[in-house]
Amino acid sequence: MITLPKGTKDVLPENSYKWQFVEKTARETAKVFNAKEIRTPVFEHTEVFARGVGETTDIVNKEMYTFSDKGGRSVTLKPEGTAGVVRAFVENGLYAGALPLKTYYITPCFRYERPQAGRLREFHQFGVEFFGATDAGIDAEVILLAKTFLDKLGVKNITLYINSIGCKECRKEYHDALKNYLKANYDKLCDLCKDRYEKNPMRILDCKNEDCKAITENAPSILDYLCEDCKAHFEKVQSLLKAAGVEFKINPKIVRGLDYYTKTVFEFVSENIGAQGTVLGGGRYDGLVEQFGGGKIAGIGFAAGIERLLLLLESAGAIPADDALTLYVAPMGDDARDKAFQIVAEMRDKGISAETDYMGRGIKAQFKYADKLKAKFVGIVGSDELSRGVIKIKNMQSGEEVYAPIDKIAEFLR
Ligand code: HAM
Repeated sequence: MITLPKGTKDVLPENSYKWQFVEKTARETAKVFNAKEIRTPVFEHTEVFARGVGETTDIVNKEMYTFSDKGGRSVTLKPEGTAGVVRAFVENGLYAGALPLKTYYITPCFRYERPQAGRLREFHQFGVEFFGATDAGIDAEVILLAKTFLDKLGVKNITLYINSIGCKECRKEYHDALKNYLKANYDKLCDLCKDRYEKNPMRILDCKNEDCKAITENAPSILDYLCEDCKAHFEKVQSLLKAAGVEFKINPKIVRGLDYYTKTVFEFVSENIGAQGTVLGGGRYDGLVEQFGGGKIAGIGFAAGIERLLLLLESAGAIPADDALTLYVAPMGDDARDKAFQIVAEMRDKGISAETDYMGRGIKAQFKYADKLKAKFVGIVGSDELSRGVIKIKNMQSGEEVYAPIDKIAEFLR
């Protein structure tokens, strides 16, 4: 038997309604915040991510699905949504239109990681990217969008952590202070963090290695090194969130695993789904558009992992049941079979979900099947009904039975 690749999953027909629930909620939330969908290719020139996500990140160093196509170009399956959207924003000259431009996407992403609960090699993100506003109000709005989305889904017991990692200027000073602090324990850092020490020391704060965690326990906080502008910005974000009734905790160790962030970063973390508890993460990336050649245009966004959201919603039993089938038409005999075919066609024309028998089942087996389909009503057509021009409709919940004229069935399906 040929099986699916490690770290991927099928979404089977019996479960797809769960995905549709999350996706519909995402689209509805984006819509009330006036964000429009953007779709970018699943693969891009490798440079988009190498440059966009950053050469010092785990994603670029270890996790990308990169290959040469038949033309000898290096292409990469998108490991995340932001870089491709920024590439499209610049390439299509969207910066010349009215700003801020608010976009959202629902996309598969690919990272060559060690699979575990909530961590896959193909996973899916709902993300937003807002361009053109440096105002702290847009930071608060993006976080509020994330919160509204999670609330609408029915996600409970989730904590919002926020932090500011400053701008290029203040971060330089912080990096120096951090390296100074870490110097004495450099030898005890894990190999990865030794590498990070020069390239991106702030990422050491994020390391899961117990030794590194112990070493960074009392590390200096970025919040003590923010410049006046970054400090005022972060304070404004907080006051707006408070005014909007959004609860949060400040966590100076939230640094995020991607290189493009500036100022505000945030994560929504759940304690209920194991080690991979970060359900949604994002932040501001004011230099990224410029890096792609699009001028000094600010950006901010987030992405939520749909598989992790589903783990959370399933464990809380928070996913509304699938829409049931409205009418199952059970024919008895060949003439009735033709009539049933006609009836279901007419129902579907009216937008009513309907199904009939193509397996030659007897009436008892058809009722069993209708039960499996969770049909709200079963309509029975036999020779008696045919000659009278009616159908016997049974309400499967109440057990009540009525005869309905064939041309008025819809009126009886309530
Ligand atoms: P990220 O934190 O790398 O950020 O990913 C966002 C979310 O995607 C995570 O919080 C998690 O729910 C989900 N995720 C990541 N990796 C996996 C995986 N291997 N398996 C399952 N789920 C996963 C970004 O991707 C940024 N582009 C977010 C962003 C948008 N920042 C600004 N705009």
